[in-house]
Amino acid sequence: MRVVVVGKGAREHAICASLVNHHEVVCTTGNPGIAEICQVEQRKPEEIDADLYVIGPEVPLVDGLADRLRSMGRKVFGPGADGAKLEGSKAFLKEVLRSAGVPTAGFAVFSDIASAENHLRSANGPYVIKTDGLAEGKGVKVAMDLDEALFDVKQKLSGSSFGDAGRRVVIEDYMSGPEVSLFALCDGESAAALPVATDFKRLFDGDLGDNTGGMGAHSPVPWGDADLVDQVMQSIVQPTLVELKRRGIVYRGVLYAGLMLTEAGPKIVEYNVRFGDPETQVVIPRITTDLGSLLLQAASGRVEEQPTIDSRAALTVVLSSEGYPTAPKVGREISGLVDASNVEGVRIFQAGTALRDGVLVTAGGRVVSVTALADTLSEARTNAYLAASMIRFDGVHYRTDIGAAAVARIAERAERGNNR
Ligand code: GLY
Repeated sequence: MRVVVVGKGAREHAICASLVNHHEVVCTTGNPGIAEICQVEQRKPEEIDADLYVIGPEVPLVDGLADRLRSMGRKVFGPGADGAKLEGSKAFLKEVLRSAGVPTAGFAVFSDIASAENHLRSANGPYVIKTDGLAEGKGVKVAMDLDEALFDVKQKLSGSSFGDAGRRVVIEDYMSGPEVSLFALCDGESAAALPVATDFKRLFDGDLGDNTGGMGAHSPVPWGDADLVDQVMQSIVQPTLVELKRRGIVYRGVLYAGLMLTEAGPKIVEYNVRFGDPETQVVIPRITTDLGSLLLQAASGRVEEQPTIDSRAALTVVLSSEGYPTAPKVGREISGLVDASNVEGVRIFQAGTALRDGVLVTAGGRVVSVTALADTLSEARTNAYLAASMIRFDGVHYRTDIGAAAVARIAERAERGNNR
């Protein structure tokens, strides 16, 4: 099968790396790392012939790329603009969740500053304020005190902080608990679940600093009940697909459930309509089934096969540029990738990279994802960090605590088991 993958990040690199095991792959627009493993094109996906189209990022989905391809008779893994609104509008998402009876935080939607301020003054903190529109994952504010919340809501609704994306906001009740991500491959009616992962959104160790696209991830995660995946599929994903269908939306693509494991059970924080980045870099390397076949089944409206999963663990560390996420420095020479990729079980997925006169340089905020697959999460962590330490560019930054809490939790459980 010939597959076109749309996108140019580490997520698309991981998708292409899996697909090339069984299929001919063309990536548009790709990056230098992707160009090492498959054909890379600068043409629009509509201009390239293929048996299957896999759309990576949310923006082309919200813009209706899947609809345009389907209207040409093509098979597409990715929702149309109607389904992509789940990510494109937080207010729409919350309405769908409410109608579907899916567990989520209580909420209210505001477009004018006075009403939003009144709501905040009558609520208890912490206050969760989200832009309605797309904001590259940076539109969520969790304000611990009222003044901070009032400032944030004013900045958003006036258009100062996020332009039009913030001119409508969703204010939610605060929830707490560990956060995990689950990807469901949906065919419009039913879905197959991939293994649970967790990502690290803040820039610095200890979950401090700015929100980013994600600085690392691992899979599996040692939180949640043994039946977490079944529980989420039954009480969250399946009712969502039913509600979407009731609204005339046939959702064929990935539903990325961002979940909070609260004391009252798993609740949806948000849906994204594409694979998560960097979670994809740890989930896809664990899938041993032909990924192309799974995605084609979803795109064709018949998910028949449950993916088989490697029992090994995967952990990824994201290396970012100086200045990320506000103003990343670009054009800095990158070295050490070959040595790093020779560390046992390591794969390097490129994102913000470019070739300048044949030299690999930084070209974006998140530069590479260093993934290690190993028998235990602890080993995966050791190997990923060893490889990360071999990659150099001026101003390189990465967190040093990705997976630390999970490894400690697993060790603690083993200790308790030994003492029984
Ligand atoms: N891992 C966060 C995201 O993909 O939005």
